[in-house]
Amino acid sequence: MNILGIETSCDETAAAVVVDGTKLLTNVVASSQEMHAKFGGIIPEKAAREQLKSIIPVITEAMGNHQIDALAVTYGPGLIGSLLVGVETAKALAFAWNKPLIPVNHLIGHIYANWLDGKTPQFPALVLLVSGGHTELILMANHGKFKYLGGTRDDAAGECFDKCGRLLNLPYPYGPYIEKLSEEFDPQNKLGISFPRPMLNDKNLEFSFSGLKTAFLNEYTKINDKTRENELAYALQEAVTDVLTEKTARAILKYRPVSLLVAGGVSANKKLREKLNAMVQSRFPNLRLFIPPISLCTDNASYIASAAFFNYHEVPWEKVNADPSLQIR
Ligand code: KG4
Ligand code: ZN
Repeated sequence: MNILGIETSCDETAAAVVVDGTKLLTNVVASSQEMHAKFGGIIPEKAAREQLKSIIPVITEAMGNHQIDALAVTYGPGLIGSLLVGVETAKALAFAWNKPLIPVNHLIGHIYANWLDGKTPQFPALVLLVSGGHTELILMANHGKFKYLGGTRDDAAGECFDKCGRLLNLPYPYGPYIEKLSEEFDPQNKLGISFPRPMLNDKNLEFSFSGLKTAFLNEYTKINDKTRENELAYALQEAVTDVLTEKTARAILKYRPVSLLVAGGVSANKKLREKLNAMVQSRFPNLRLFIPPISLCTDNASYIASAAFFNYHEVPWEKVNADPSLQIR
């Protein structure tokens, strides 16, 4: 079955055609990042206006000469103006082409990037979902069977990277630049910047990253030295990735899954990938770890089409509506 996925929840306009939820035929992403870089962040109305311009060209490119059996679209969570562009376009196409339409939760979508890499994760699976707005641990008993185990009480890990990156006046998008700055730092030269590991010792599976942002701001103001920004970035990345890795280990101990699936934009971070890999190898050698290829971690439509295939649930197009605050819980 060929599914056309459409994704416009944040600043990207994306479309992809995927066969049987696993084989990528096309994957097109247009981003208005350059425009947002000028303003130091996303301006929702500007993002939606750009998406209106690019949605049809992006879908046309993704479709090529492929035939499709159904359409899938992200209906939340995200920016309302952006979601509406994708949802209303998908509804119009489903009506015009007389094809089924499957609405997909963006967060669940991210998880399915793990099925697009020629692999088939087994259940029960623990999911670490780390995107710009969400940091969550989820137990996946099967396709469509999700149990929320814990999440952030305030900022998400991605949001923490973004806010600290903005403070350093790094280029947008900030997360990848925090990573780049960290890589330029040689830990041998460490002069003593270290950040707290929030909630690391709490027994629950909750996170909190907003205090880390304040600690970063305080240290940044105290140091007031441009040449030490890479050490600041390094220390921040160490703290965030330590907490994510250790809390994930705690959830593995408690729920004993057979697979660990990592998903969301922050899973593109190489330090996080390394630490999760090392943790699994040393402490849970029988657990299978899945992390999508870096190109599929950040927002794109391939995983929306894949999630629709594995959770096939047609909804009459008249009943599909954007829901900006959709959750997994
Ligand atoms: O999943 P995503 O593309 O969009 C949302 O659904 O939010 O995630 C975007 C988040 C941003 O906070 C961005 O800074 C972060 O993922 N991110 C990274 C990296 N690439 C993207 N954070 C750290 N290291 C990266 N390489
Ligand atoms: Zn996302």
